[in-house]
Amino acid sequence: MRPVEPTEITAGRLHLRPWRTYDVEAVYQACQDPEIPRWTRIPTPYERRHAEDFVTRQTPAAWANGTGAFFAVVDATSEVLLASVGLMGITPVGDAEIGYWCAPAARGRGIASQAVTAVARWGFGAPGLTRIEWRAAVGNLASLRVARKAGFTLEGTQRSALVVGGGQRVDCWVGSRLSTDPPPPPG
Ligand SMILES: CC(C)(COP(=O)(O)OP(=O)(O)OC[C@H]1O[C@@H](n2cnc3c(N)ncnc32)[C@H](O)[C@@H]1OP(=O)(O)O)[C@@H](O)C(=O)NCCC(=O)NCCS
Repeated sequence: MRPVEPTEITAGRLHLRPWRTYDVEAVYQACQDPEIPRWTRIPTPYERRHAEDFVTRQTPAAWANGTGAFFAVVDATSEVLLASVGLMGITPVGDAEIGYWCAPAARGRGIASQAVTAVARWGFGAPGLTRIEWRAAVGNLASLRVARKAGFTLEGTQRSALVVGGGQRVDCWVGSRLSTDPPPPPG
């Protein structure tokens, strides 16, 4: 695998950039919200050492070894952390999976939809991805809405295919966006 060149993206009022050491506290605080462990694969309980590991070890390693591209989504003016969007499991033949969460105080403003759209657009560019997969526990309607707004198509349901909430195996929706799909409508 070739490294993925660490990149910064500007999308309206959002600035997306690789994680920096000083993000540890904000990641730790955001992930105390029960909705994030409920629907994602983060460790539960989520301790400061988990945030440290994510920010300072896992995500720089993924950029360096070309297997992932993990972005902090911050307010372009205030630099306040709003969300996390990452491409993981990048393969040499152009597959990846997208994952995201939004800090509780920033939800309901279209931030996740805008950031996921921007990361997908970027992924089909320089890193040359062909298919980005989206997976979510069945019932995660907010995530489904975000994925659809970002141009993903729901493909089906996989049985007992996702482990969320720190160890609960659940059915999951799977969908994708292809590099050949039309871009989603703006807004
Ligand atoms: C999913 C999540 C990232 C959405 O973040 P967000 O910034 O609020 O998303 P957006 O504002 O871009 O869009 C949310 C959409 O979902 C809708 N929505 C929110 N909660 C909903 C619910 N319970 N049922 C149906 N739709 C819902 C909103 O109305 C909005 O749609 P609209 O723009 O048509 O009004 C956020 O809720 C989150 O972090 N959840 C916990 C972690 C998670 O589930 N991550 C995804 C794992 S696959």
